[in-house]
Amino acid sequence: MFLGLDLGTSGVKALLINEAQVVVAQGSSPLSLQRPRPNWAEQDPQSWINAASLAIAQVRASAPNEFRSLQAIGLSGQMHGATLLDGSDKPLRPAILWNDGRADAECDILERRADFRDIAGNVVMAGFTAPKLEWVRRNEPEIFKETRKVLLPKDYLNLWLTGRHMSEMSDAAGTLWLDVAKRGWSDDLLAATGLTRDHMPDLVEGSEQAGMLRAELAAEWGVQSVSVAGGAGDNAATACGLGMTSPGDAFVSIGTSGVLFTVSDHFAPNTQNAVHSFCHAIPDTWHQMGVILSAADSLNWLAQLTGKTPSALTDLIDDVPHKPSPITFLPYLSGERTPHNAPNASGSFLGLKRDHGAMEMAQAVLEGVAFALNDCRVAMAKGSAELSSAWVAGGGSKSKAWLNIIAAATGLTLKIPETGAQGAALGAARLAMASVGRTDAFLSPGMSEAIASNQELADAYIERIEYFRSVYPKL
Ligand code: XUL
Repeated sequence: MFLGLDLGTSGVKALLINEAQVVVAQGSSPLSLQRPRPNWAEQDPQSWINAASLAIAQVRASAPNEFRSLQAIGLSGQMHGATLLDGSDKPLRPAILWNDGRADAECDILERRADFRDIAGNVVMAGFTAPKLEWVRRNEPEIFKETRKVLLPKDYLNLWLTGRHMSEMSDAAGTLWLDVAKRGWSDDLLAATGLTRDHMPDLVEGSEQAGMLRAELAAEWGVQSVSVAGGAGDNAATACGLGMTSPGDAFVSIGTSGVLFTVSDHFAPNTQNAVHSFCHAIPDTWHQMGVILSAADSLNWLAQLTGKTPSALTDLIDDVPHKPSPITFLPYLSGERTPHNAPNASGSFLGLKRDHGAMEMAQAVLEGVAFALNDCRVAMAKGSAELSSAWVAGGGSKSKAWLNIIAAATGLTLKIPETGAQGAALGAARLAMASVGRTDAFLSPGMSEAIASNQELADAYIERIEYFRSVYPKL
């Protein structure tokens, strides 16, 4: 048995699979996010451990006998979060998350101090870990001084599981302290933020063993000796869940964030278009991705405001809408990364009239997210990652209407996997398998359906996409 644990932004999922990768049990537990100031997004690291314990307890309760033959655990997690630990591994402050835009000014400072673009392969963006540490250094110097280790969210769970400070390449790349081509920490980039290698965890590949489950947990869980894999950032983990290990493989994920991801066999930065270039979770493999900060989060926000559930909102919309919503939505509720790199950008509804209701607004939200994903596609194509099809992942991909809208807006043929939207937790479980020597872990899924672009809708979107593109810079 292999356990995948996915530490998302809105909750932790646990997935137990057997030797044949059949799902034996699942558990989940929600997480809340604190926004103490505009543009800030924080979580209490202890809440990750609590949620993970609850999700694991559900899995144990529903498969007690199977759980006892657990061989390995793999972790996946929301990327870029800064968890600052003191000398006794106690968090010094709430973790600063991937969708926190406070470190805007620090990005320019860091870009002037070291060659982040060539070494880390990315524009320094507020969501990444390095500028957050620079923000702490400038705004909370006492905390910075006490910081002994900086861990990514899933690596804090790895510390809880193994007692070791460990990370792996795919998530470490998102700190901006990694030499992404060489797959090792960069002393120059660390020094630009006032840090050294001592502040960093040790590195393994995601598919390698990072440690063993601590004896107390193993005893408490009634299991024997359990290996813990390096794991992956949630996007690389989703790719592993979809069997994407070959150049050109691609997926689009509609989670809290929205991601267009493709695998490459070499380091290929595309900083001019604010595309992310990171390591994959398996050796000698890299990936590029366009990232938007509010995908399903935009729909969740509208659901909260209207007192409806997100699925009640998507159910208002035909599976293949006949025409665009009369309203245009800019999904920059938490700022934006690809292609704008604008942590202070804001969202908008444009074209509202007295007779518009929840249905028009919901369709506008799905379309705004789709247009933003299309901007990612264009940005990646400018860097020579031309895509014509992509698998789908993330909770939002359960909506047929949303998939048809994305297919028409991007021209991509979308492939729905038979394994469902379970990507990242499954990928984490597969990395656990790989860490104990299973070479057959990363199978490609069967396809339950392909959604091609609907020509009529795609034609109707041409003008709308031009408008969407033109309006943001003027606001
Ligand atoms: C990727 C990113 C998000 C988070 C969300 O760069 O910031 O996809 O990983 O979990």
